[in-house]
Amino acid sequence: MGILWHQPGYAEEQTDVQKGEYIFRATGGCGCHTDYKNNGEFLAGGRGIQTPFGIFYGTNITPDKETGIGRWSDDDFIRAMTKGLSPQGTHYAPVFPYTSFTKMTREDLLYLKAYLFSIPPVKKQNKPHDLIVPFGQQIGFMLWKKIHFRETKFKPNSEKSIQWNRGAYIAETLAHCGECHTPRDWQGVLKEKMRYAGSQDGPEGELAPNITPDDKTGVGDWSTADMVEFLKTGLKPNYDDSQGLMIEVIEEGYSHLKQEDLEAISEYLRSLPPIHNPEASTKGSN
Ligand code: HEC
Repeated sequence: MGILWHQPGYAEEQTDVQKGEYIFRATGGCGCHTDYKNNGEFLAGGRGIQTPFGIFYGTNITPDKETGIGRWSDDDFIRAMTKGLSPQGTHYAPVFPYTSFTKMTREDLLYLKAYLFSIPPVKKQNKPHDLIVPFGQQIGFMLWKKIHFRETKFKPNSEKSIQWNRGAYIAETLAHCGECHTPRDWQGVLKEKMRYAGSQDGPEGELAPNITPDDKTGVGDWSTADMVEFLKTGLKPNYDDSQGLMIEVIEEGYSHLKQEDLEAISEYLRSLPPIHNPEASTKGSN
């Protein structure tokens, strides 16, 4: 099955590793696991992510057997991605968007694992997070999860087109656009009513703008071609370029996706309810 595969246009990705690389691109390139600033090795971890709860350090996800994920079984990988649990049974912080990846199909998770296991292993110990209590405690993550997290799978909507469903699957599950573009409450929980309406306090304290189709404060005035161009190049219709985390997920990830998939993401975004949110608009005062 699968939402992406067995459709016209996917002929090039034949091996599991090639399919996994495509999934990897669709996630935005797992950039939190590469310490670009300090010329860190690809996916070997150590990158600090600023959040209101302290600094989290991305982990080593290369296939090194001692310091990376080289000893993980398929089920270990799936448990981490869909339940936020490490092979040792410890709970991950919701900074790792397992809250979105939980909806991935098992097939796609295993492709992604095949790709990660094909990259060069790097020996590099993980750095402990530097957190403000109580989020620094396992018990905190466990309680958070009990209250706020439900393991689910992506359910296609049979009333919508194949293209819409593909866009929904990519945006909601793989690309996790909403994890950055939705504001969070004081417990770090996404505010459902403000889905995609932007967050002043996005990851690393950056503004992640409103990307609902609201004309005044969102991207309601962007055409499909505008959105596709943006996801390929980071250039906005007003010729502004993009910075920070967005340009990273574009360069390492979304720009490598097929035209049809970028159009599908745009179609999905345009179908969202428009939300007026001047606080997270890039359009000046509205
Ligand atoms: C890791 C966090 C992150 C993820 C994931 C992410 N974004 Fe962004 N996005 C940002 C940030 C931060 C900005 C602001 C960049 C800037 O101002 O240069 C941004 C800017 C944008 C803009 C420009 C809006 C405007 O009004 O200028 C659009 C459109 C956008 N993102 C769409 C998406 C879509 C679609 C996805 C998923 C396919 C996505 N983003 C995933 C963080 C993210």
